[in-house]
Amino acid sequence: MSPGCLVFLFCLSCAVVSSIRGVFLEPDQDVSLPVGWKYVGRVSATDQILLTFALKQQNVNKLEEKLEQLSNPDSPQYGKYLSLDQLSRMIQPSEETLQTVWTWLGNLGIQDCSTVQTLDFLNCFMSSSTAEKLLTGSKFIHYTNGHQTLIRSLAKYEVPEGVAEHIDFVGGVHRFPSQKAVISKAWKAGQHREANFHLGVTPAVVRKRYNLTASDVGSHENNSQAVAQFLEQYFHQLDLVEFMQLFGGNFVHRTKVDKIIGHQGGIKAGLEASLDVEYIMSTGANISTWIFSNAGRHKSQEPFLDWITLLSNMSSIPWVHTISYGDDEDSLSVAYLKRINIEFMKAGVRGLSILFASGDDGAGCREVRKGRNTFRPSFPASSPYVTTVGGTSFKNPFQITFEVTDYISGGGFSNVFKMPDYQAAAVNSYLKRIKSLPPDTYYNAGGRAYPDVAALSDNYWVVTNLIPIPWVSGTSASTPVFGGILALINDNRFQQGLPALGFINPLLYKIQENGTSGAFFDVTIGCHYGCLDEETKGRGFCAAQSWDPVTGWGTPNYPELLKVLLQRKDHHP
Ligand SMILES: *[C@@H]1O[C@H](CO)[C@@H](O)[C@H](O)[C@H]1NC(C)=O
Ligand SMILES: *[C@@H]1O[C@H](CO)[C@@H](O)[C@H](O)[C@H]1NC(C)=O
Ligand SMILES: *[C@@H]1O[C@H](CO)[C@@H](O)[C@H](O)[C@H]1NC(C)=O
Ligand SMILES: *[C@@H]1O[C@H](CO)[C@@H](O)[C@H](O)[C@H]1NC(C)=O
Ligand SMILES: *[C@@H]1O[C@H](CO)[C@@H](O)[C@H](O)[C@H]1NC(C)=O
Repeated sequence: MSPGCLVFLFCLSCAVVSSIRGVFLEPDQDVSLPVGWKYVGRVSATDQILLTFALKQQNVNKLEEKLEQLSNPDSPQYGKYLSLDQLSRMIQPSEETLQTVWTWLGNLGIQDCSTVQTLDFLNCFMSSSTAEKLLTGSKFIHYTNGHQTLIRSLAKYEVPEGVAEHIDFVGGVHRFPSQKAVISKAWKAGQHREANFHLGVTPAVVRKRYNLTASDVGSHENNSQAVAQFLEQYFHQLDLVEFMQLFGGNFVHRTKVDKIIGHQGGIKAGLEASLDVEYIMSTGANISTWIFSNAGRHKSQEPFLDWITLLSNMSSIPWVHTISYGDDEDSLSVAYLKRINIEFMKAGVRGLSILFASGDDGAGCREVRKGRNTFRPSFPASSPYVTTVGGTSFKNPFQITFEVTDYISGGGFSNVFKMPDYQAAAVNSYLKRIKSLPPDTYYNAGGRAYPDVAALSDNYWVVTNLIPIPWVSGTSASTPVFGGILALINDNRFQQGLPALGFINPLLYKIQENGTSGAFFDVTIGCHYGCLDEETKGRGFCAAQSWDPVTGWGTPNYPELLKVLLQRKDHHP
C-alpha cells in the first residue's frame, strides 16, 4: 500500500466518524428498571419494534400565543378554536425536517411507517436489529411484571447529529407504563370496620353535594365527553347498566358508552375503567361518552404516548377528556415533558378541555441524597396546559356536608415548568399568606402549581365485573366527576350558541380572583402528606382560604359555576 493510499483511507474514516457522531435526545431520562419488573431475555434479531418519532414542530411560539388568546375571556379571539386542519397548517414539521427523517429511516430500509394528520408523529415498525442500528447504543430486552411483557431498552440511545435537531424524542425505547392504579380499601382486610353503616359516595351523593338537580343533564346532540386510561384494563357495558340500576337514581342518564377506542380483549373488567366511566356519566349525565382504553397495542409501545398521538389523528373528538394517569416528573426527560406539553397546547387551541388527576401521593417524596428529601411532583398534573383535579373527603363521613382535604390529594410545584401568568397572583398570595410552609428546599416556588380544582375522592361505590365494590378512593374518582360537570356546562353553552370551554384555567383563575362568585366550595381544612422525615413531620402543604396547592380553588358548586361560565356572551354576538 502506498503512503498516498494510507492518507486517503485515514481521511475517509475521519469523514465517516464525524458523520455518525451521535447526540443523546433524552440524556436525563430515568432508565432504571421500575420496581415490579424483571428481565426476561434479549430480543431476537427479528422481533418487531414499533418506534414513535416525535418530529420537531414549527411555530411553537405562535401556538402558545394563540392558546393564550383563545382561552383569555378578555380577548376578542376567545373561543375561536382551530380545526385539526388549521392547527396542522400552523405547526406541522418543515419540509426539511420531514426529508431528513425520511432519509435517515430510508437508509436502513425502514418503510412501514404511518403518520398523523399534523405530520409531527411518525410510527414505524422495524426489526430489533434495525432499531439498534438506527438508535446507536440502544439494546432491546423483554421485561415482564408478571402479567404483561414489554420490550424496552435501558441503555440510552443516540441519533446522528444532523437528525437530532429534527426530532424531540423517540418513543417506545425507555419509558415503562406508570403502574399507579386506583384501589379499593375493601380489598385490604381489616380497614373497613364501619363498612356496614357507612353509605359511601354514589351518584346521588355527588349530585346532591355539587347542587345538580334532576334536570341538570345534557341534551345537546353534539356534546361529548371521554375518559382515557392506560392500564391493562377493560370496560364492560354491563357493569355500567348494573351501576345505573343500583345507583342511577332520579336523573336521566345513559347506560351505554358510545365509542370504545382501543383494544378490548380482556375478560375481567378493571376497577379504574369502571370508576371513570360510571362517574363521568353520573355528573355528565345523558352526554355521549367515549372511552380511550390503551394498554399498548404492541410490546414496544408507550400507551400514554399512543393516546397523545391519536389525538392528532382524529378531527372529530370529544370536548372533555379526563385522565387518571401520572408519573414522577423527575423520571421523565425534559425533552419528553416539553413535547407532551406542546401536545396539550394543541388540544387547547382545538377547544378541548383536558383534565388530569393530581395523583394520590400528596406532595410526594424523593430522596435527593442520604437524609435529604424533596417533594416529588407528578406529570402531566404539573403541566401548565391541563386542568388538574385534587381530592377531598366529607368532614363527617355520615353526612353530605362540607369537604376537607383528602390527605392523599396530589399537589405541589413543577420543577420543570415555570408558573404560568394566569395563576401567579393566586399562588403568590398563598405563598405570602401562609406562615407554616414546608422548608423551601422541598419545592420550587416559581414552578407551575397544582391542582387547579378538586372534588370528592374518598369512599366511592363502583360496579366492576357485576359486583358493587365500596371504598374506592383516589383522585381518579374526582377527575371524571369534575369532567362531567364541565361537559354539562359545555352543553349549556352549546344550547346558547357559545363555543366550548376549551382550556379553562385562565378563565377559572380570573373568575375566582374577581371576588365572591360562589362557583367553588373553598376547602380550607387539612393537609396532604409528603415526606416521612423530621423536617416536615410527614406534611406537605395545607389547604387554606382561596387557592391552595392541595385542593386548588375547591370543589364545584354547579349552579353558580354554570352562571359565571355562561355569562360571557359579549364577544360572541
Ligand atoms: C392516522 O389515520 C390514518 C387514516 O385513518 C391512518 O392511515 C394512519 O395509520 C393513522 N396514523 C397512526 C399513527 O396511527
Ligand atoms: C348549593 O349547596 C350549598 C351547600 O350544600 C347550599 O348552601 C347552597 O344554597 C346550594 N345552592 C346554590 C344555588 O348555591
Ligand atoms: C338526552 O340527550 C338527547 C340528545 O343527545 C336529547 O335529545 C334528549 O332530550 C336528552 N334528554 C333529556 C331528558 O334532556
Ligand atoms: C350537530 O353537528 C352536525 C354536524 O356538524 C350539524 O349538522 C348539526 O346542526 C349539529 N346540531 C346542533 C343542534 O347544533
Ligand atoms: C368580574 O366582576 C364584574 C363585576 O361583578 C363582572 O362584570 C365581570 O364580568 C367579572 N369578570 C369575570 C372574569 O368574571
